[in-house]
Amino acid sequence: MSLPSRREVLLAGASVTLLGCPTPSPTPDAGPPTVDAQAFDQATRVAFAPEAIAAPLAAFPQAVASGAMEQATALVVTRAPTLPRVVLRVWRPLDSSTEVALVTEQALDVPTHGAVKARVRGLAPATTYRYAFFAPDFSVRSAIGAFRTAFPDDWLEPVTFGTTSCAKLANGPFKALSLQAQVPMDFFVHLGDVSYNDGAVALEEFRDKWRGTLADEGYRALLPAVGTYLTWDDHDFWNNFDPEVNGATDGRFLDARQAFLESLPTELSPEGRLWRSFRWGRTVEVFVVDSRTERRASTRLSADPQYLSRAQLDWLKAGLADSPCHFKVVMSSVPITTMPPPLWGGQADRWQGYPAARSELLEHLVAADVKNVWFLGGDFHLGLVMRLDGEGPNARFMEIAGGPAGHGNPLSLVLEPGQEANREIAFPQRQFLFASGDTNATTLTLDPKADTVRVVFQGATSGRTTFDQVLRFGG
Ligand SMILES: [Fe+2]
Repeated sequence: MSLPSRREVLLAGASVTLLGCPTPSPTPDAGPPTVDAQAFDQATRVAFAPEAIAAPLAAFPQAVASGAMEQATALVVTRAPTLPRVVLRVWRPLDSSTEVALVTEQALDVPTHGAVKARVRGLAPATTYRYAFFAPDFSVRSAIGAFRTAFPDDWLEPVTFGTTSCAKLANGPFKALSLQAQVPMDFFVHLGDVSYNDGAVALEEFRDKWRGTLADEGYRALLPAVGTYLTWDDHDFWNNFDPEVNGATDGRFLDARQAFLESLPTELSPEGRLWRSFRWGRTVEVFVVDSRTERRASTRLSADPQYLSRAQLDWLKAGLADSPCHFKVVMSSVPITTMPPPLWGGQADRWQGYPAARSELLEHLVAADVKNVWFLGGDFHLGLVMRLDGEGPNARFMEIAGGPAGHGNPLSLVLEPGQEANREIAFPQRQFLFASGDTNATTLTLDPKADTVRVVFQGATSGRTTFDQVLRFGG
């Protein structure tokens, strides 16, 4: 991304008033219905005490991770560079320290690059599972992970999830991710720049970047704690990667993509697409958008600009309009909000610089009166809660820039005391409810019955809750 210089940031300007006070959270209802997990996963009660097995970092130098959760399936991954073979076990805990409800066991060959990944099937919906990888003789194990499967089709229950972006290893350890790991969540959403892989050219170099980033203590705390939905951004390849120059047949691009897929619990469709959606009952549909690898910069200001491919944009428009879910969450690695000039440059790198494509999506949603579309964006290295436009029909839509996990932005200077005039230029209060230059744990709770979205930011450096408001679509 393109960032302003310190000098550009320190401009004089008008005055600003304080943000509003936090709104109390709603009273929780009686709780969700339950699922008879045994009827779905037919687990077997076995004597097994995984916590008693040693978990040396030498055997499993990074934690486990899970993702792409559906009602009956999920992906899991770890790295076991010294073991030729491992055993994956998935279980439900019981009220016993010596027994578990064992759901599945798989013997897996470890590829020479060390990352080992598997799909788990036959699970029950809305159920929390534990999993770990073991040496074949069960002498050592990985970290023990947990994930929750998606809700049954007819559930209309609250969902809580965390979100982040931009984890640059040079800025580790990622305290924001360690903080986020302490928050109870149904799932976690990563908005890209999962790793900064700039400088890598060949496959083994990309793998080395992933080995380093995912061994950070923040990732080792967070990824075992919760299942993930992931998208990618430019640094997962390299800075300001241009797919029109380094397209689908470029070796460096293919190597970067392969290392991403080896390292993380996500996968491409048979057509090679990252974009897809996940439903949690009738509560929320999460749209994983690829706003980085399908763009065509040369078409940007043409009559038919390509920010997403035509196929992806049509899928997104139809999916949002037709979704049976109360909330629609759009994961766009690069924000869709109109960032106010002059401090915000770099429009060419985001939706704002492809105005016809942006308008096509938003005008479709406004014309069809699609409610409760909530955007998530990363890339800016700031924590933000903002309206897509300061006024007009798109002001009904909100975007939350989660995290960041480990990066800064020079614009955070205007958030300091004495910079109120510049703050109003960069983050005018009629459009921005919140702006933070800290790294943050960011948590959203979607309550379909109350029709509210609670957004909470906790600053990793300050250690304080800096934003906690209950929002309504269009409010
Ligand atoms: Fe970034």
